[in-house]
Amino acid sequence: MSGIKLISTGSALPVREVTNFDMEKLVETSDEWISTRTGISARRFCSGEECHTSLCLAAARQALERSGLRPEQIGVCLVATLTQDTMTPSTACVLQKELGLPEDTVCFDLNAACAGFVYGLHTAECLLAAAERKYGLVIGCEVLSRITDFTDRSTCVLFGDGAGAAILEWGEDYPSLCAVMGSRGNRQVLMIPGVNTGSPNFIHMDGKEVFRFAVDVLPKCAKEVAAKAGISLDQVDRFVFHQANQRILDYAIKKLKIDPARCVGNIARTGNTSAASVPLLLDELVTSGALRSGQRALCAGFGGGLTWAGALLQLA
Ligand code: UT7
Repeated sequence: MSGIKLISTGSALPVREVTNFDMEKLVETSDEWISTRTGISARRFCSGEECHTSLCLAAARQALERSGLRPEQIGVCLVATLTQDTMTPSTACVLQKELGLPEDTVCFDLNAACAGFVYGLHTAECLLAAAERKYGLVIGCEVLSRITDFTDRSTCVLFGDGAGAAILEWGEDYPSLCAVMGSRGNRQVLMIPGVNTGSPNFIHMDGKEVFRFAVDVLPKCAKEVAAKAGISLDQVDRFVFHQANQRILDYAIKKLKIDPARCVGNIARTGNTSAASVPLLLDELVTSGALRSGQRALCAGFGGGLTWAGALLQLA
């Protein structure tokens, strides 16, 4: 068996907190509607000089510092996102320069929407197996406030900005992620126009359909990862699920019959941060001591594409 372990994490959230009461001033909504339908009380939005690159850099620097590694030891640098500051250079290439990663580091951004970070973990596992340097940096970062239509109450109350980073090490005797991934092309349910469509690149979402998709795919994905790893869900120490809606999480907890205490999230404070959501929560769990050395977290994301991905990640 070969695979990767999690060495360290880092995160960065914008300074500006926007509460549901602030959202009430923007659109016809209420704290009561938002919190009961989604579990969200507040989210962070970039302001001033803050941007995608600055969040990624801050999260990456923190993870690197906590790992005790030098930039020259990193062989792969991936940024999961759909809101990078520039399409090219990719944020990963900007990080190569700013962090001082060697020029032969494999650097690219990848887009699998809210499943992006877990797609990134699996991609790093595959790339590191073939790389000379066995440490990888995977980041999930979004500045969704830049692509949010603040006149559309059905979407604007959901999203937030942030970045989470993870340093990984590949080893011949390390456990495989046992990753499970999937995609189902669909423009109707969740779509963000690209550069050549002539429309503003706002998020368009059929919330009800995404909800149906999520409650179907998330429990299935979690079960498939555990089956692939040959363990029962009781043997998973923490569930790190994409923080899209507390009602989706509650449904998955019930369906999987797992202990809610092992599935504690942070959606109330962050909102839905798409690709940043899983690594932000992972960082909270590691820094608070809720996920300890040798323990395993079952990470899973789902969203636009449509995409989904799950993986079992062990803390070194
Ligand atoms: O990251 C992955 C991508 N996203 C998701 O996973 C999101 C998945 N979907 C959801 O989380 C939920 O579907 C939402 C939170 C987006 C919506 O919840 P819902 O229970 O499905 O509400 P709804 O869309 O059926 O709307 C119910 C009512 C409607 O009014 P009427 O037609 O019943 O009079 C909406 O117009 O709520 C209204 N509404 C709002 N009211 C107050 C929609 N947005 C708001 C709002 N404030 N912000």
